[in-house]
Amino acid sequence: MRRIVARLSPLLVIGTWLLMACGAPTSSTTGTGATTSSTSSDTTTPATMTTTGGGATASSATTTEGGTTTNSATTTGGTTALSGDPVPLGVAVAETSNTAALGQEQVIGVTIAEKYFNDHGGINGRPLKIIRQDTAGDENGAINAFNALINQSKVLGIVGPTLSQQAFAADKIADTAKVPVVGPSNTAKGIPQIGPYVARVSAPVAVVAPNAVKAALKQNPQIKKVAVLFAQNDAFSKSETGTFQQTITKTAGLQLLPVQTFQTTDTDFTSQATSVLNQNPDLVIISGLAVDGGNLVKQLRELGYKGLIIGGNGFNTPNIYPVCKAQCDGLLIAQAYSYELVTPVNTDFRKSYQDLQKREPGQLAAQAFAGVQVFVEAMREVDKATPLKGLSVEAARTAINDQLLKGKYQTPLGPISFTPEGEVIQNDFYVAQVKMNADGATGKFVLLK
Ligand code: ALA
Repeated sequence: MRRIVARLSPLLVIGTWLLMACGAPTSSTTGTGATTSSTSSDTTTPATMTTTGGGATASSATTTEGGTTTNSATTTGGTTALSGDPVPLGVAVAETSNTAALGQEQVIGVTIAEKYFNDHGGINGRPLKIIRQDTAGDENGAINAFNALINQSKVLGIVGPTLSQQAFAADKIADTAKVPVVGPSNTAKGIPQIGPYVARVSAPVAVVAPNAVKAALKQNPQIKKVAVLFAQNDAFSKSETGTFQQTITKTAGLQLLPVQTFQTTDTDFTSQATSVLNQNPDLVIISGLAVDGGNLVKQLRELGYKGLIIGGNGFNTPNIYPVCKAQCDGLLIAQAYSYELVTPVNTDFRKSYQDLQKREPGQLAAQAFAGVQVFVEAMREVDKATPLKGLSVEAARTAINDQLLKGKYQTPLGPISFTPEGEVIQNDFYVAQVKMNADGATGKFVLLK
């Protein structure tokens, strides 16, 4: 039962932000890093997942002082019966606020990963236990979530946060505490450089974003004038627009029209959209997050813009559909993941996601899965050399960080590894075009050939 509720919870939670995304004038971040699950690293009874009235998932665990509680998390449908204390891995993503349009996909990815790796033997026979903390959408939420995971839950590593804007505030805390962090979606320039305990599985804007411009030019070789807009209060959006602007002017030799700005909390884009239309561009490129970006697309189309639109990495979720609805159709979005990749791990991941969500998985869920995977594989290697059980939390964290950066991983994203600094090395990138169904509510990210 615990498993069933845990697997369903992302579906239930998603309704909460959808309500906000469609009507909310501003993002409603709590800044408190609300706890969604908690446990203790070495003296814990098995956590109990429960569903709250609001659809959020909570998990509680009883901690025994100085005891040596064992966990008997027998796998369902797997081949391995796990035993021993759970190995705690933190996940700190945006489960609430407008940023949950991105974060909820990440919750699904890590939930699938926890089951997948426990079905495949856990950490050499011990269960992996994911402990989630909601960061909401702002810096304080991420800082609070990181502090709780590091100091209270004593996790051995953290997958998170959702936004680069949050990573620049919270990752330093983990780095100083020598707790390894893997960014699952932070794509701004400079994330791995935050410190030696910070890595990411999310390829940076500089290598991903130019692919979308190439795809736009393939669809319309007549493009000459390009309008660019970006969210000026968001670190990733600022970084991504720099890449887009450079690609437009230097690589493609196109005309960059006067750049427009907005805030991720904006809902009325009439003035920006009107200026864009007056400039008569052949292509519009937007760097923002899912809800603000989706609303901007919608308003541009409503005011009559007919040309191609590129959405940046902040649009990379089917959760834009309820925002721009039928007007999402045709949007080009560069991808660091292809659901069509045929490898054993991606086939399993894709099927689990399809079973849960009744649609193809996207980049954010796949990257979140990969974030958990690199920790699991590093933990297994460390544990083989020196059983984790015999290491202090501090020694385990450092050994896992060292091992993580050395490994090569066959993930749903394809093969990945890291530079010594923690930057992801990945070979294959893609571009998707949103194809909305006639209902204007459902759609698909169609991968372009
Ligand atoms: N890619 C976005 C960021 O880095 C979500 O903030």
